[in-house]
Amino acid sequence: MAPAVTIFKNSDDLGKHAADLVARAVRGAVRVRGRAMLALAGGSTPEKTYMVLAQPGRSSRIDWAHTNLFFGDERFVRPDDPASNFAMVRRALLAAIPVPAGHAFPVPTQLPTAATAAAEYAATIARAFGIADDRDLPRFDLILLGLGDDGHTASLFPGAPSLRVTDRWVVASPPGTLPPPVERITLTFPVLNAAREILFLVSGRNKAEALHDVLEGQPNCEARPAAGVRPADGTLAWLVDEAAASRLTRSG
Ligand code: 6PG
Repeated sequence: MAPAVTIFKNSDDLGKHAADLVARAVRGAVRVRGRAMLALAGGSTPEKTYMVLAQPGRSSRIDWAHTNLFFGDERFVRPDDPASNFAMVRRALLAAIPVPAGHAFPVPTQLPTAATAAAEYAATIARAFGIADDRDLPRFDLILLGLGDDGHTASLFPGAPSLRVTDRWVVASPPGTLPPPVERITLTFPVLNAAREILFLVSGRNKAEALHDVLEGQPNCEARPAAGVRPADGTLAWLVDEAAASRLTRSG
């Protein structure tokens, strides 16, 4: 089934709607399972969504006490580095909301290597989900993803060995071609595709070609990794602004 694509006039409108969908996912997960397990996207696009979620009028309506926040990927930098996805989320969201201690799970980039950080993060996820990391897959209630202008998502870059990993939940990845040129830690496709709900947030004309390729071309996952996001038993939706959608032939 073709994923739902919603086109917004600008990134502000996209961010507000994305925040509504995050709140809806949390409500549903807490109601059914008593908790919400979310994986957040990095980069710049989702920051507006996080800032909207942090607004008092919205934040007060979200059950943060039963929400657990993970990261779909991270740059292998210190948590206080400006390039850190955790630093961005802490600034935009965590500093303003009552997520209980132990409910936000940054990637442990203080460890000596990206590979050890990836392995430890997989163990962190396993503990939080209460499963063994050599059996079932962790099923996130919602994963937010972005799209790079080369078609990457999370830190799954074109041609990278991480695209072909099926036996690990989290891997280290060499820097992609896009800044920042640092090693990455990323969830792998098996974990992404086990999610109950995936939302891509895509903004900017520089994404138009990659978005067209993924949604309307004949993309292969090696060249446009975002094309490999196909949740096995979950929903997939794209929230894009008009600039990013400028190469799409179908709208809505
Ligand atoms: C990262 C992200 C990455 C991001 C895309 C889009 O760590 O950079 O996880 O996958 O989502 O590169 O980034 P922008 O939203 O900044 O365009």
